[in-house]
Amino acid sequence: MSATRLLLAARARQQPEWASLDRLKQVLHALERKPPLVDASVCDDLTAELARAATGRGFALFVGECAERFAEARPETVLAKADQLHRLADGLAEATGLPVTRVGRIAGQYAKPRSHPTETLADGTVLPVYRGDAVNAPEPRPQARVADPSRLLRAYHHAETTLSTLFERDLGLAGQTAPERTYAGHEALLLEFEQALVRPAPDGAGQYGSSGHFLWIGERTRQLDHEHVQFAASVGNPVGVKVGPTADPGEVAALIGALNPRRRPGRLTLIVRMGAAHVGRRLPELLDRLGAAAADVAWVCDPMHGNTRVNGAGQKTRALTDVMAETEAFVLALHRRGLPPAGLMLETAHRPVTECVATPAEAAVAEPLPHYETACDPRLDPEQARLVTAFTADLLEAGR
Ligand code: PEP
Ligand code: CO
Repeated sequence: MSATRLLLAARARQQPEWASLDRLKQVLHALERKPPLVDASVCDDLTAELARAATGRGFALFVGECAERFAEARPETVLAKADQLHRLADGLAEATGLPVTRVGRIAGQYAKPRSHPTETLADGTVLPVYRGDAVNAPEPRPQARVADPSRLLRAYHHAETTLSTLFERDLGLAGQTAPERTYAGHEALLLEFEQALVRPAPDGAGQYGSSGHFLWIGERTRQLDHEHVQFAASVGNPVGVKVGPTADPGEVAALIGALNPRRRPGRLTLIVRMGAAHVGRRLPELLDRLGAAAADVAWVCDPMHGNTRVNGAGQKTRALTDVMAETEAFVLALHRRGLPPAGLMLETAHRPVTECVATPAEAAVAEPLPHYETACDPRLDPEQARLVTAFTADLLEAGR
């Protein structure tokens, strides 16, 4: 029997309605024959680094796009993003004295879960929503929004190009000096794609998702009895799960049991994105419920996704004060229980966009933000990202 399986919609949320199932099958068969995009041994190295961060002897920075575009796979853009990641990480390392693990939201961040399946344009036209370049295109035209399975092959090739640019950079072949390694992570949303890229571990022990080093499950797809969690449980990579404000502590405990039954250090990262208004109460409740099990987890703060506001012009934005408030409450909650904050995940642009604002008051104005380029969520510009990481370094220092 072929490894290709088409999913039952009821058991996996947020899967596209592909325009052609025959084409989807062809594409998946082609993907099954492709070389792995990443090596299992490098995934294991990342697990070891995350284990170090989870015990407070290091820190992990996850930085990059909300929705990566295929056009960004060109070397200049990839190198500019890698430079931003490493610059932020170097700043954190210098300020804290900790080794900082560097993970890009890159080389595979091509699929987006969405709150609504459709989007209504200003003229009243209703279109299927943009779901990431691996599925369709953001242009507000019906043809652009068709879920085209051929895009999965393009996703593979753009990821491959991006990873080889990162790899060459890390080897110092691109004119850089002694860089630290760049790991790549993305949300494992499109299960047929992810499944088609699963490869046996070289030592025959188990299997790895070969689409990226770090794979995470989003807030909308972490149902315990659904396929995303089963997929994550089946691979040897370091995996993450987003944990939002409505997460039931008992369910999170069950997720820890399902995804890391052997309590392998660094295997499981929980990415807390509860929002500045909730994290101060919900995270302590969760930690109390988990008890000793909380120590098996790498706790990472995503101060972006719980703090999205819509401005007077109808654009999604985020206020820097909210982002910092959530980060601070996250660090405090962990420190109070003697647990180390293991990392920070940010959505960033490598160019000076205006998508996030300074304060909630600015997030209420009616004029549209002028340099608004994101294909999905609002990203921090380079200076905002620097401020958040510098603030995080201060918080880590204060707790030691
Ligand atoms: C994201 O990380 O871009 C995302 C969609 O996050 P979440 O699943 O936490 O909403
Ligand atoms: Co996002």
